[in-house]
Amino acid sequence: MTDTAASPPESPPDEALTMGIDPYERNWMRLSVLLLVVFFATVSIAGFAMGFQVNGEDQEVDPRTILQEEPWSNPGLREIEPGVYEAYIVAQTWAFVPREIEVPVGSEVTIYLTTPDLQHGFKITDTNVNTMVLPGQVSKMTYTFDEIGEFPYICHEYCGQGHAAMFGVVNVVAATAADDGADDAAEDAAADDEEASR
Ligand code: CUA
Repeated sequence: MTDTAASPPESPPDEALTMGIDPYERNWMRLSVLLLVVFFATVSIAGFAMGFQVNGEDQEVDPRTILQEEPWSNPGLREIEPGVYEAYIVAQTWAFVPREIEVPVGSEVTIYLTTPDLQHGFKITDTNVNTMVLPGQVSKMTYTFDEIGEFPYICHEYCGQGHAAMFGVVNVVAATAADDGADDAAEDAAADDEEASR
């Protein structure tokens, strides 16, 4: 009796640290904790460093009146500064407005989407632009088009009998060609204004 009380326990020294957990199980626990850390870091980096956020109040709209309000009453492409564009695209049963967008290669385009009717999807082929389009919300993504070519966009959420007809295309063209196009458009607009003012 007195012997046991006086001498230290004969267990291996790390027994106290490991709480007697089997090494195999211990490794699985470490892996589980590591995965939690990785997931937490992934979500944090996506949310705070890369800006993947749930829509804020500023992206809430009234789907009943949205098409009467600027800029949605006049959807399409706007050049904010050289090489930087905003594209307002309306998804509705069953078409995208506009159906075609043309930008010079290297352009940074911020795409805004909404719908007056029901849930649609929006995906631009060969890019990571991919979002839902929901009534009452504005979806927003920014993408830089670094390659010349045609990038079709499609509705990827089944939305009724005309779903398969919901598509359009981003034409990414050589910088000079798009500039000419923009000049032409500006000239046309100027001509229209002249005509209107007569
Ligand atoms: Cu819109 Cu499918």
